[in-house]
Amino acid sequence: MENQNQELVLMVEQVEALKQAKPFVELMMYNRCAIREIETKLRVLDEEFSIRADRNPIQTIKSRVKKPISIIEKLQRRGYEVTVQNMQEHLTDIAGVRVICSFIEDIYKLAELLLSQDDIILVEIKDYIKNPKPNGYRSLHLIIEIPIFLSHEKKHMRVEVQFRTIAMDFWASLEHQLKYKKKIENPEKIANELKYCADVITEVDMRMQDIRYMIDEVEKKHDKS
Ligand code: GTP
Ligand code: MG
Repeated sequence: MENQNQELVLMVEQVEALKQAKPFVELMMYNRCAIREIETKLRVLDEEFSIRADRNPIQTIKSRVKKPISIIEKLQRRGYEVTVQNMQEHLTDIAGVRVICSFIEDIYKLAELLLSQDDIILVEIKDYIKNPKPNGYRSLHLIIEIPIFLSHEKKHMRVEVQFRTIAMDFWASLEHQLKYKKKIENPEKIANELKYCADVITEVDMRMQDIRYMIDEVEKKHDKS
């Protein structure tokens, strides 16, 4: 208990010291700017799509810059000293953008269009839709690098972009909340239930997409006649 309290005090002091440090404040600003760039690109694609196809592939975009306490925890967990250089070198998710899409095909279309832009570099891709995690988690994760233009320099920033459908987001949000409930008595049963729900949700996502294809077909015929 004593030790835990001491660790907590150290952590709070570390967070406070970081928040005052200019290089850290600047790094957070660069990350916020990178998020803005990505968000704008996504909104442009969504707007164009809404005119051309008469519907919006993006439901919502939720962005965040990682909290100082989480940055410190992640660096320490991975055995790195807490320095701004290590943050830049070893963390790829300080800037995070979550794109909630209407349909699975919108996810792949948007990801492809984003990656085809000539100022974007793909660093890593994890397709948890084609290869879901054993617990049932599904989303498409991209780590991309994007330039931001400051008054005297151009900086290349990494951003983690997660694409999900509304259903995948619904599952992931609830699963995330449950993960932190320490007093669960039968974790195995809960894990099985969650996996079952993930499978049901996958089925629903696919059926919703089929409905959309059917509607598309009807509209095409209508347009021809
Ligand atoms: P992190 O240390 O969390 O960054 O893991 P990683 O480097 O292996 O990255 P991964 O792409 O697997 O996961 C990164 C992010 O995806 C997490 O921070 C979550 O936002 C989300 N995520 C991944 N797995 C799960 C999961 O099982 N459940 C939920 N709710 N979210 C997940
Ligand atoms: Mg990660």
